Amino acid sequence: MSEKATLGINGKTYEFPIVKGTEDELGIDISSLRNSTGGIITLDPGFKNTGSCESAITFLDGEKGILHYRGYSIEELAEKAEFLEVAYLLIFGELPNKEQLDKFHDDIKHQSVVDEDVKKILDAFPKSAHPMGVLSSLTSALTAFNPSSVDVRSEEAMYKSIVKILGKFPVLVSWTLRKKMGQPLNYGSTSLGYVENVLQMMFSQPNEEYVLNPIVVEALDKLLILHADHEQNCSTSTVRIAGSSHAGLFVSLASGISALWGPLHGGANQAVIEMLEAIQKDGGDTKKYMAKAKDKEDPFRLMGFGHRVYKNFDPRAKIIKKAADAILNDLGIEDPILDIAKGLEKEALEDSYFVDRKLYPNVDFYSGVIYRALGIPTDMFTVMFALGRLPGWIAQWREMRLNKEPIGRPRQIYIGKTLRPFIPVEER
Ligand code: ACO
Repeated sequence: MSEKATLGINGKTYEFPIVKGTEDELGIDISSLRNSTGGIITLDPGFKNTGSCESAITFLDGEKGILHYRGYSIEELAEKAEFLEVAYLLIFGELPNKEQLDKFHDDIKHQSVVDEDVKKILDAFPKSAHPMGVLSSLTSALTAFNPSSVDVRSEEAMYKSIVKILGKFPVLVSWTLRKKMGQPLNYGSTSLGYVENVLQMMFSQPNEEYVLNPIVVEALDKLLILHADHEQNCSTSTVRIAGSSHAGLFVSLASGISALWGPLHGGANQAVIEMLEAIQKDGGDTKKYMAKAKDKEDPFRLMGFGHRVYKNFDPRAKIIKKAADAILNDLGIEDPILDIAKGLEKEALEDSYFVDRKLYPNVDFYSGVIYRALGIPTDMFTVMFALGRLPGWIAQWREMRLNKEPIGRPRQIYIGKTLRPFIPVEER
């Protein structure tokens, strides 16, 4: 393998170094392209072939269906770790020892109160507002109550901001739900674990004791781990690019939440359940919807299928499918939606349209089935995704700032009008 890539343009030859990652991934470093060629750039809509950074956080191999956080397989982490351990691992690079984990959790707990005035902001939203819009606004609003931007040269200042957002974000998540349900806003308890606290804040009623169900706690913990990071996806790239202007951590995260909302990204979990419900209402005719998904004249897509990077099974989908079966079984729930999902999956995996395009179920094909079983309303699903992705976004933002990455500013090829004279309005 040559260590250089050669590019010929108009009879001239240019050489570019090849960079190799620790998992043997290769990339052509074209950072000198524009200068050395006198202004030529690369064009890559959707960044399908473009690496925006070097990162040591998450490795995924879409062809083989592999996902690792900091060198640990997602299968092992989902089975053996807790969400907060995984959050620490992603953000700081190593699994915490018991003392580090306890301190991390303690520091987070002591930041899990928000300014009372945040309630006034929440109050101004109509109940019908989509929870993702509310969450993004409230996360942005936190900046107003914590106005000093983080001094990223100080690890201590960075750590303080990180535990602050990890403490306050679940409060915002639960208030988003409670506002929607018309329930009083509450706080959790410092005596509970991170995930237990989330559930208690979301579901406790003012007039009765909330009893935690260990099956539900474990299921949510697993889901959050599976969503915790996924390298340079749409929302993560948004967080990194917003933060690259030295915008603060909280607003960079708010940008990521907005990017996650779309149905082609995190919004897919809501879209999947709505699709499955529509199929059920329509008599359960999966073949009809398969035909719609394949019809190029029809905008309908099989939600929860396909992935920009995975051209093999999404490893998270495998874990979630198994978990969905177990959780529904443990909770004694029979959900016809799960049967429709399984039926669609089977048909798609045997259909040449999906096989040829390497379209497999992604993480969100089955996650909604679990959220539904946990009693979480459909339009809160993407909010739960955001809760899981929070440590990943933080880790990526921190890495970007510590690596002193330059401001993110892509180029373009201009295809508009060339210079023309201005015509006064009366002559047009
Ligand atoms: N249903 C039907 N056809 C599909 C689907 C689908 N879900 N996904 C892709 N295709 C087809 C496209 O029409 C295209 O066909 P063509 O080659 O005949 O034109 C081909 O497969 C390639 O699709 P692209 O859109 O070019 O692939 P891309 O990598 O840009 O998109 C994406 C990936 C956005 C995830 C896409 O597969 C999709 O829209 N899936 C449904 C939404 C979804 O589940 N999103 C969640 C992703 S996971 C996450 O963000 C957590």
